[in-house]
Amino acid sequence: MATLQDLPNYNHHALSEMLTMMSEEEKNKLTQDLSSLNLDEVAALYENVYVNRHVEAPAGQLTDVETEVKSEMTEERLSELETLGRQAIREGRFAALLMAGGQGTRLAHPGPKGTFSFDEISLFELQAKQLLKISAECNTTIPWFIMTSDINHEETLEFFKEHHFFNYHEENITFFKQPNIVALSPDGQLLLNTKGELLTSPNGNGGIFEALAATGLYQTMNKRGIDYIYLNNIDNVLVKVLDPVFCGLAVESGADVTTKTIRPLNGESVGRVIMADDKKQVMEYTELPEGLENQFTNGNIGIHIFRRDFLEEASTQALPYHLAVKNLEQLDEDFAVVKKETLKFEKFYFDIFRYAETFKTLQVDRESEFSPLKNKEGKDSIETARQALVDNHII
Ligand code: UTP
Repeated sequence: MATLQDLPNYNHHALSEMLTMMSEEEKNKLTQDLSSLNLDEVAALYENVYVNRHVEAPAGQLTDVETEVKSEMTEERLSELETLGRQAIREGRFAALLMAGGQGTRLAHPGPKGTFSFDEISLFELQAKQLLKISAECNTTIPWFIMTSDINHEETLEFFKEHHFFNYHEENITFFKQPNIVALSPDGQLLLNTKGELLTSPNGNGGIFEALAATGLYQTMNKRGIDYIYLNNIDNVLVKVLDPVFCGLAVESGADVTTKTIRPLNGESVGRVIMADDKKQVMEYTELPEGLENQFTNGNIGIHIFRRDFLEEASTQALPYHLAVKNLEQLDEDFAVVKKETLKFEKFYFDIFRYAETFKTLQVDRESEFSPLKNKEGKDSIETARQALVDNHII
């Protein structure tokens, strides 16, 4: 457990200098923050994830994943899968799981990304409406698990309350928080956030599995008879939440992981779903080794169905941290608020795929299923997302 006295020994000079200008109260707060920190582990994280970082292709023989292509399916096949999916939904075997703990630094919307609205309809409402529709059609209730993080939990809850949970039954929505991890300056120093506390940030969407385990939600799901967990992001405005055809494919195959993909465009910023030997993996676009970006034909769009029993067991595995460099608000050495390039450490949820034995992949049309809201302007922006919603008659 770290103390204020340890800071200079671990080269956290900036922070130990700042101590000389802090009140007793501020020092006490920092002492408390440090008490849950292991500075050897922080140093190892910095060394491994930043200093010694290198991008390399996953080990083993890399091949494309086999996939069924939705546009090539016959009407009979589609209707068979849809029937199977709806039946499982009706029987209460599916839960929806939303990852909404991110910081949304690129969009820079004030508030959780899910509160961003197009013509008065927020991203949260777009997903709630779909779940309500399918619940009504299948004459059932669908438990909805929503992951938030320290940076947006309260605001998310407030937003749902203000909007009367979008008519969702309150008892069917469960909010849970993902863990945080320290963020560091590029020279490996601990930092303070604008409230003078140790700067931490959500530990990436791969924090979802440990969070589900820590909050006992796998048991909750088990008790409710949930066999499949339908996971998606908050920011794909065209996401089909609990798409019955996709659900049907997961039930039919019984695979540990069922994944939706799109065919990536040349050099597109989406991870590539591949097989490394016989293990499915996603190579994140920021980590794609040069020359491999256009070799694979399935792009990850963050929509997956997991068998609950697979996920519960695999959640005991420690997922690796990846580096994300983001502009984060913090205090400089004169206690002024500044926005600076900062090292964030993130787990990626798809690193759990390698523990799965069985996979299924469905390639779908980008035009009707994928339009991510990442940036204010340009690519994957407010304008492109709005156009996609209009083109698909959603707004
Ligand atoms: P992104 O990787 O696009 O990150 O998230 P982001 O935080 O939304 O945006 P930027 O990169 O800072 O601009 C993909 C999905 O993963 C969730 C996001 O909420 C989104 O649904 N996510 C991301 C988490 O739930 N937790 C995290 O720590 C990071």
